[in-house]
Amino acid sequence: MDCYVMTLFPDMIRSGLGTSIIGRAIEDGRIYLEAVNIRDYTASKHGKTDDYPYGGGAGMVMQAQPIYDCYQAIRKRLADAPRVVYLTPQGQVFNQEMARELAVEKSLVFLCGHYEGVDERVLDEIVTDHVSIGDFVLTGGELPAMCMIDAISRMIPGVLHNDESAEGDSLSDGLLEYPQYSRPEVWNGRQVPPILLSGDHAKVDAWRREQSLIRTAERRPDLLEKAAVSPKEREFIRNYLAKRREV
Ligand code: ADE
Repeated sequence: MDCYVMTLFPDMIRSGLGTSIIGRAIEDGRIYLEAVNIRDYTASKHGKTDDYPYGGGAGMVMQAQPIYDCYQAIRKRLADAPRVVYLTPQGQVFNQEMARELAVEKSLVFLCGHYEGVDERVLDEIVTDHVSIGDFVLTGGELPAMCMIDAISRMIPGVLHNDESAEGDSLSDGLLEYPQYSRPEVWNGRQVPPILLSGDHAKVDAWRREQSLIRTAERRPDLLEKAAVSPKEREFIRNYLAKRREV
């Protein structure tokens, strides 16, 4: 996949995504990442990319021209029109399903805003998706773009190696992942659940599934509505919660 990030802070993107698993995928050529500096496309002699808002108000607005020309320079290099994601708290809230959906695209373009916003006319002209990473306001779109690129990249075949598989991930089936334990068997007086040491794979799988159901019911009950959970499992959750209320 080819990812282009239009930003005023390209170093932030390069350093944020240059290490660990995504850094390795970039090095291996599974992902092409280019942080494109919007300032390089301004027609202003002084390198200006923002101006006062019409109608007054606080802060500055990123101007249309540098963003549009930056986008056109990227567009010219691609065979097909890419999806263009504008990071904004006003967008649809990003989730795992969206990550999976975007991971099949050949190229993606991200637009990172700053200051009070971006001239609406250039958004109307180029943006296909308005996306938020949650109901809070950050100072710019760079961190949200990096979050999205990380989550999307690990859905691309070959980016995760076998021992890093995304299969058992939290949210891969709409549920939270079960708890994990590693050596030693006893740490700080706390024992690893004995079933994990039993060597009985069917029992371990069943225990993990139960733990996923319990965890999701306790921490993110909102997820249960849409998760792939059988009627029997729903009954298990009801019984578990009823018992917990008795205690
Ligand atoms: N820009 C500022 N805050 C944001 C958020 N929560 N999501 C996406 N982009 C943003």
